[in-house]
Amino acid sequence: MRAVTWHGRDDVRVDTVPDPEIKDPTDVIVQITSSGVCGSDLHLIEVMAPFMTIGDVLGHEPMGVVREVGPGVTELKVGDRVVVPFNISCGTCWMCDQGLQSQCETTQNREQGFGASLFGYTKLYGQVPGGQAEYLRVPFGNTLPIKVPEGPADDRFVYLSDVLPTAWQAVQYAGVVPGGSVLVLGLGPIGDMATRIAKHLGASQVLAADTVPERLARARANGIDVLDSTEQADVVAWVRDKTDGRGPDAVIDAVGMEAHGSPGAKFAQKASALVPDAIMEKVMTVAGADRMAALNTAIEAVRRGGTISLSGVYGGATDPMPLMRMFDKQIEMRMGQANVWRWVPDILPLLTDADPLGVDSFATHRVPLEQAPQAYETFRQKQDGAVKVLLQP
Ligand SMILES: NC(=O)c1ccc[n+]([C@@H]2O[C@H](COP(=O)([O-])OP(=O)(O)OC[C@H]3O[C@@H](n4cnc5c(N)ncnc54)[C@H](O)[C@@H]3O)[C@@H](O)[C@H]2O)c1
Ligand SMILES: [Zn+2]
Ligand SMILES: [Zn+2]
Repeated sequence: MRAVTWHGRDDVRVDTVPDPEIKDPTDVIVQITSSGVCGSDLHLIEVMAPFMTIGDVLGHEPMGVVREVGPGVTELKVGDRVVVPFNISCGTCWMCDQGLQSQCETTQNREQGFGASLFGYTKLYGQVPGGQAEYLRVPFGNTLPIKVPEGPADDRFVYLSDVLPTAWQAVQYAGVVPGGSVLVLGLGPIGDMATRIAKHLGASQVLAADTVPERLARARANGIDVLDSTEQADVVAWVRDKTDGRGPDAVIDAVGMEAHGSPGAKFAQKASALVPDAIMEKVMTVAGADRMAALNTAIEAVRRGGTISLSGVYGGATDPMPLMRMFDKQIEMRMGQANVWRWVPDILPLLTDADPLGVDSFATHRVPLEQAPQAYETFRQKQDGAVKVLLQP
C-alpha cells in the first residue's frame, strides 16, 4: 500500500510499504478514506526527530471503512464506517474506566516511561504505524474504533479522532463556565476549534491571539475577539483591557513547544537540527529544549485564581517554570494528551446537519495522499491559508 513515511527533518515522502495484517484476534483493518495532518505531526519533523526512524508511517487522525476483522471482533463488521482515536486505548483497564484513555494501562510505554501508545508517533509512544496510509491495523476492534453513521461526508466525523476531543478537553480543563471568559493562544486547528467549543458551551467572552492573517480572519468570522499579536506584553495588555483589568478566567495554550512560525521559537528547532540525534534525545528527555513563549504568556495573562489549560505539546524535563509567580497568582493548571473516548459521548450529538461547531467547512485543504509532502510543507509554512489539511488516500 501507499503511505506517508518519515525520512528526516522536514522530509516526509509517500512510499510503498507492506499492507498491514491482522495480528491479534481483536484487530481490524481499516481502509482509510480521510486522514488529518496535525500540528503534532510537525513536531515529528522538527524537535522530536531523534525519536523517529526512517520509514515510520505517520498519521493519527484517520477514518475509513472496516475491510477485515479478526476472529475475536464482535462489535464491528466488514463495511462499517469508523473513526480511529489517536490514543491506542484498550477501553477496559482501570485508566480507561476513569476516562484517562491517554494513560491506558494496557498500552502504556513503561520501558520509555511514557503513557498510552499513539498511532503514527515516536518511539516514546510505541512507534505504531499510523493512518496517513491506504490501510491501518487497529487493535481493540471491539472498543477502540468509533462507529459513525453513513451519509454525511467524512468531514462531519473525521475530527473525532483528535481535533474535537483535544479542543473539548482543553475547554473542560480550562473550567470554562457559562458567562465566563477565556483566552485561546494559537488559532491552528486546535485553538480554532477550542474557541468554537468555548462559545458553544456558553463562555461570554472568547478572546484569541495569533499572527497568521487567515487564521485570525476565520476566528473573527465566528465572532471571536482576536488580537493580531503574540507578543506577551501586547497580549497581556489587551486581555486586561477587556476584562476589567483582571485577565480572563482561563487561558488555553493551543501552541505548544515549537510555536511554529513564531520568531522567538527558532532555537529549539535549530538546535535539534545541528546537534547529533543521540545527544538531542538526551536533551529532549532530560534537559529542556522547549520554547515556552506561549506558556509564559498564559501565566501572565490569566487572572489571579484562574486556570491554564495546556493542549499544546511540550517536551523537555527541566524547563524553568516561574513557580513563585504561579503560586502567588494561585494558578490552576491542567494538561495532557486528549482522552478521546472520554469526550465522544459529549461531541457526537453535535455532529448533525445543524453543524454547530462548523466541522463540515473546517478543512481548508483536501489533497490526495500522494501530495502529502507538499501538503505538510504548506501547513508548516502556513501558506495558502492552510489551517486543516485532510489527506484522501
Ligand atoms: N493534547 C493533545 O492531545 C493534542 C492533540 C493535538 C494537538 N496537540 C498540540 O496542540 C498544539 C496546536 O496544534 P495545531 O494542530 O493547532 O498546530 P498549529 O501549529 O497549526 O497551530 C499553532 C498556532 O499557534 C500560533 N502561535 C505560535 N506562537 C504563538 C504564541 N506565542 N502565542 C499565540 N499563538 C502562537 C501559530 O501561529 C499557529 O497558528 C500543538 O502543539 C500540537 O502538538 C495536542
Ligand atoms: Zn493530532
Ligand atoms: Zn486501557
